Amino acid sequence: MNFQDSDIQDSGIKMQRQSRRLLVTGGAGFIGANFVHHWCHKYPEDRVVVLDALTYAGNRHTLLELEAQENFRFVQGDICDRTLVDNLLREESIDAIAHFAAESHVDRSILGPDAFIQTNLVGTFTLLEAFRQYYEQGGLKEGESQEGEIQGVFLHVSTDEVYGSLNPDDSAFTETTPYAPNSPYSASKAGSDHLVRAYYHTYSLPTIITNCSNNYGPYQFPEKLIPLMCINILMGKSLPVYGDGQNIRDWLYVLDHCRALDLVIHRGKPGMTYNIGGNNEVKNLDLVHLLCQLMDELAPDLPVSPAKELITFVKDRPGHDRRYAINSTKIQTELVWEPSVTVEEGLRQTVKWYLTHRDWWEPMLSQEYQAYYRQVYAVK
Ligand code: NAD
Ligand code: TYD
Repeated sequence: MNFQDSDIQDSGIKMQRQSRRLLVTGGAGFIGANFVHHWCHKYPEDRVVVLDALTYAGNRHTLLELEAQENFRFVQGDICDRTLVDNLLREESIDAIAHFAAESHVDRSILGPDAFIQTNLVGTFTLLEAFRQYYEQGGLKEGESQEGEIQGVFLHVSTDEVYGSLNPDDSAFTETTPYAPNSPYSASKAGSDHLVRAYYHTYSLPTIITNCSNNYGPYQFPEKLIPLMCINILMGKSLPVYGDGQNIRDWLYVLDHCRALDLVIHRGKPGMTYNIGGNNEVKNLDLVHLLCQLMDELAPDLPVSPAKELITFVKDRPGHDRRYAINSTKIQTELVWEPSVTVEEGLRQTVKWYLTHRDWWEPMLSQEYQAYYRQVYAVK
């Protein structure tokens, strides 16, 4: 498949842009790593510093090929460590923060919310305070460059889950939909969004928030629906579908998301929120069936075939949101972005990736993962 390169490049802006110095938090996680690969490939003249604590969800191997490059630096550390963040901003003369670091899995937030409050709220607050002080002490040049690029930006990557749950006939979430989070995860992200918004209004810090739908693609930790199902099919394990399987998610291919974030960093307006969706609403059960078909077609010698025989309905997740859907009109019209990958295409690519990257995911099925798995699926 030929994924479109960013509209920035398409519109010729790349030729005129100034080089940037980015701090990417959570760059060893799923979306952060895809973003870092996208950015380093496209803007090799930019400095990219990744700050990641390497929790269970972080994988440094994902970034190994970049670590050989002079313009790339990996720092293992916690976003709650204020001294470390202060030092990095100054040492590296950072002009943009792309903030991905988070505890990101709803089921884990139900089992133990503490880390979500710490990283998602305290961590985001720590970054904001450090960036504010750095900004106010002149670490950042204010204003815009001649091409309208923002000079300094704090991009906060958030989720559509902050808006709560939709009924089947409700219209999709817009940027003005009231917040109504239902899980400790989405509540912690909602709180962090509010802090980011407040730092723009109170301190004029150039912050931008993006709220996106469910991402999928390479390098996703196998606790999330799509990689979990792929790997369970390969191992002949049951495929746990929560409740009646009729919950709806909108699926955004991670590289489409990275293109959108690229545009937001270059052209987004400080103080704004942009919703980013995939235009791919699918019921969970339909998605799992699609995955089973793809695996039957692409994976030879499956332990159980057809794979759909593995589907098992399990107890529903507490507070399980029924439906998410995103209205992306704002980013589509103001920044000229749209998703390019259908869920059928994207799933095929993703299944192929997991089939050919066993060396990436197999080590992630650690004892910690097995313990988590037993805990979450035993209680369901
Ligand atoms: P992920 O769980 O795959 O990765 C999170 C990364 O953050 C990991 O590398 C982890 O080591 C790092 N991290 C965690 N705590 C840290 C800390 N205290 N200090 C430094 N690093 C820390 O998450 P993801 O799926 O890549 O999500 C990235 C961002 O996008 C998150 O903010 C998430 O809320 C948001 N988001 C994700 C999705 C999705 O479908 N995955 C959808 C909407 C929004
Ligand atoms: P998930 O990937 O955890 O993302 P989120 O909860 O952030 O939307 O789950 C996607 C959907 O799949 C969600 O409706 C819950 C459902 N699901 C299952 O049915 N079984 C599973 O084992 C998992 C992990 C998720």
